[in-house]
Amino acid sequence: MVAPPMVDDPPTPRSGPAPAPVAVVTGAGGGIGSAVARRLHADGFQVACVDREGARARAGSAGLPRSAPFTCDVAVAAEVARLRDAVTGRLGTPSLLVNAAGVFFTHRVPELEEGDYDRILDVNLKGTFLTCRAFLPAMTAAGHGCIINIASTAGLRGGRDRAAYCASKAGVVMLTRSLALDHGREGVRINCVCPGLIDTPMADWITSRPDDLERWRAAVPAQRIGTPDDVAGTVSFLASADAAYVQGAVLLVDGGVSA
Ligand SMILES: NC(=O)c1ccc[n+]([C@@H]2O[C@H](COP(=O)([O-])OP(=O)(O)OC[C@H]3O[C@@H](n4cnc5c(N)ncnc54)[C@H](O)[C@@H]3O)[C@@H](O)[C@H]2O)c1
Repeated sequence: MVAPPMVDDPPTPRSGPAPAPVAVVTGAGGGIGSAVARRLHADGFQVACVDREGARARAGSAGLPRSAPFTCDVAVAAEVARLRDAVTGRLGTPSLLVNAAGVFFTHRVPELEEGDYDRILDVNLKGTFLTCRAFLPAMTAAGHGCIINIASTAGLRGGRDRAAYCASKAGVVMLTRSLALDHGREGVRINCVCPGLIDTPMADWITSRPDDLERWRAAVPAQRIGTPDDVAGTVSFLASADAAYVQGAVLLVDGGVSA
């Protein structure tokens, strides 16, 4: 009688080249998420391009042959569980998760509806928790993996007209650091990126006001607004072997605003 395989037996070698590693990028139809998806694809990943809107997910994966679009609201636990199963079935088990889905709008707390507060916290913070919860177990089981959460400089210091957004991003920073402590020993590196102002639709509140944008630009050490590729390059580094000893880090990509 043949003994059943031990759980820690090495996987049976397959013939042919190893499949490309799988990355999940949420918010992949957005400015930063789509740049991250393109960059990771260029780095050799198969990319699961996830967005709440199907058309945006398809736009994020357009032109990337080793990618596939997935529609999912990251704030809904059942949808995230289905996403995990769909990505794993279609592309394979992800070894990289990048959380770039997010919402922002200016507000003052006395006028902020409870539902709008919930939406900011649900997408930015709970969505990050739900995707980490869904994809971490396979990474810890494999003994390796990488999670990169897109937080914000708004999670590191207060900002005017954005109290709930700042609170959500501060939560993402601390979720990241605590997860790094919990799962670093299991081979998973978990870091976050804190962009400053990046030129995407989310920055419309200031890019649509040229005088304000010019005043802001003049005060930035880098003397320009950030680009989605500035963030994507940092994500690429954090996902790479060059960042093997970077764990629980909060990496600012803000042109020096916070210096
Ligand atoms: N643009 C900036 O200046 C800036 C600065 C700091 C941090 N950030 C953060 O970077 C991330 C990406 O922002 P961006 O500038 O690319 O914004 P964006 O608006 O261009 O893209 C956000 C994407 O997230 C998707 N999304 C929203 N809610 C979702 C949900 N519930 N489920 C799945 N997808 C959802 C949207 O459809 C959109 O495609 C966000 O977390 C944002 O808070 C942006």
